[in-house]
Amino acid sequence: MAGSTDATSMLGSVPIFSGLDEKRRKSVASEGKELSYKAGDVIVGEGAMGVGFYLMLEGRAEVRKGSRVLARLERGQFFGEMSLIDEQPRSADVIAATPTKCWVLSSWAFNGFVKSNPEVALVMLKEVVKRLRAAQSSPTS
Ligand code: CMP
Repeated sequence: MAGSTDATSMLGSVPIFSGLDEKRRKSVASEGKELSYKAGDVIVGEGAMGVGFYLMLEGRAEVRKGSRVLARLERGQFFGEMSLIDEQPRSADVIAATPTKCWVLSSWAFNGFVKSNPEVALVMLKEVVKRLRAAQSSPTS
């Protein structure tokens, strides 16, 4: 697990958190933890109930539905927000394509954080809309 100083500066370099001031970044950084995965590990499994929000720190991962690759994720990108927002099961698998490190926030901490930092919700929403448009236009394979 990263010390909160490492996590605070790391969050400053990723788009969804970079607009926050140092104090807010520090506060949310202390609530998350780092988890490591091997290539091939299922980080979140389709159909499971969501308990965390994930931010990619290192490596690459694939969002998959069966054999279809919906998206590829790398450092700075997030996933796992959908289940936390609508309280439905995970919509897809997210599988580590290489050794991967994620910063993970519990659903409880995520909800509190989003409620008190609505500007982050807007940045997240923009990214979700971008993903929706990409999914509508050209499936990745
Ligand atoms: P969630 O449903 O909680 O768990 C699987 C995650 O994969 C989902 O949240 C999104 O973060 C991500 N995801 C699902 N579908 C897509 C997509 N079409 N493009 C990018 N990411 C996706």
